[in-house]
Amino acid sequence: MARRIILDCDPGIDDSVALSMALFHRSLDIVAITAVEGNVPAEMATRNVQTVIEQLDPPRLPRFGAATPNDNSDYRDACFIHGRDGLGEAGFVTADHHQRHLSEKIICDEVRAAPGEISIVCLGPLTNVARAMQREPQFIENVAEIIMMGGSFNGIGNITQTAEFNIYCDPESAREVFQAPVKKILIPLDITSQVQFALNFIDMLPDETNSVGAFLRQVVPYLFRSYHQQLGLESVQIHDAIALLQLLEPELFELEAWAVDVEVKGELTRGMTVFEKRRSRNPAHNLEVARVVDVSAARQAVIKCLHS
Ligand code: RIB
Ligand code: CA
Repeated sequence: MARRIILDCDPGIDDSVALSMALFHRSLDIVAITAVEGNVPAEMATRNVQTVIEQLDPPRLPRFGAATPNDNSDYRDACFIHGRDGLGEAGFVTADHHQRHLSEKIICDEVRAAPGEISIVCLGPLTNVARAMQREPQFIENVAEIIMMGGSFNGIGNITQTAEFNIYCDPESAREVFQAPVKKILIPLDITSQVQFALNFIDMLPDETNSVGAFLRQVVPYLFRSYHQQLGLESVQIHDAIALLQLLEPELFELEAWAVDVEVKGELTRGMTVFEKRRSRNPAHNLEVARVVDVSAARQAVIKCLHS
């Protein structure tokens, strides 16, 4: 039985790699892809989800949700990494879909129609899931589980010294989702950033004769340019692909139960994920957190998945 999932994402180049893995994976039934403001502003995230689906042309078309701006006055995008268009400035032209439902409505509708069956994979800020919880109080009890790329166990951030980008974009929503009474798995930056991809990753992509190769060969090269120019790095991290892998090949990861909260106030720490590490305490664990990944196996699994 295929695993039914909703992918909530902010494409973004690494989101695009994860979508390319998911939309053709025989073990997944992608019920919906919902856009969320993050790497790029809401309207662009919505357009980019449409673009990715059109470029990949998957065997089964998922429903699609439109993003709306988050409520965070500190929000800033990550176009410096993903390009002015969020997709490596590849210049895709996408038809404007007028029939648009809000992401949080799509999420609520699909979960209500299949209680206990749908897992939500969050590859961007947690705005849409928090809004779905606010929209329908009984929504969360019908969700099978939530898998999130976000946060930082060791307290080292990427968008600030202390905050990982997805949590930083909307700390209030992250705090709300972290407290939700549902099974939650967090794949933090400490894990996803261990799996580095060198420039030869491009050569290992499928060739242009298939939609995944044709699409990713247009967007992925930009990531190497931005990591080099902006971060001084010669290899890249494909965070969302590793987060998705936890669903596809859980044996590559080791999870631990932790009590985790989100700083929503600190001048230097807003968006920081705070783990209760005092051994003497016996806190209520609210997250399963990936603490170990088989790095080389994960890298190979991403490449193999893109060829499946
Ligand atoms: O911090 C990395 C995360 O933020 C990834 O999901 C990336 O796509 C951005 O959304
Ligand atoms: Ca993302």
